Amino acid sequence: MYTMISKDAAATMAAGRRLAALVRPGDVITLSGELGAGKTTFAAGFGEGLGIDEPVTSPSFVLVRTYSSGFTPLVHVDAYRLTSLGEFEDLDALDEASEGVLLIEWGEAVVGVLPEDHLRIHLAVDPEEDETRTITFHPSGGWMQRPLGEVTE
Ligand SMILES: Nc1ncnc2c1ncn2[C@@H]1O[C@H](COP(=O)(O)OP(=O)(O)O)[C@@H](O)[C@H]1O
Ligand SMILES: [Mg+2]
Repeated sequence: MYTMISKDAAATMAAGRRLAALVRPGDVITLSGELGAGKTTFAAGFGEGLGIDEPVTSPSFVLVRTYSSGFTPLVHVDAYRLTSLGEFEDLDALDEASEGVLLIEWGEAVVGVLPEDHLRIHLAVDPEEDETRTITFHPSGGWMQRPLGEVTE
């Protein structure tokens, strides 16, 4: 497990950008943490790091959005409104992302149908400091071999 403190939204975006340097096609990453924790902010930085030429924004209403202008495709899912695993499977996001990276907000809800090999990222809001977040990275499978210290440094 790797942990970092983010002092503001820009720092969370920068962490997302650094993570983008470590990913490969087929990667699955989940983001968890309460509403407003910074999941979409992290995803926006991640999209920048992938070289996507448009802002990555919240997919809460469309549930899934695909970006193909970066050096690897990004499939960005928001699982917040999904009421069942079947609904997630109907999105076909894993298939859609097989040649790219799948990034899932509220991903803990669907972790049971994700490949064993994935990275879980949790953002926790500091109860006393409005803009401070503790971001933890939980790698499993092949992710244990990746230099996540380069993200949390
Ligand atoms: N350290 C921080 N990291 C991320 N977002 C932060 C931070 N401090 C303040 N914020 C603000 O918190 C909000 C996070 O919103 P968002 O990324 O949409 O959260 P989520 O997707 O988890 O609901 C944004 O308005 C952002 O500017
Ligand atoms: Mg969000």
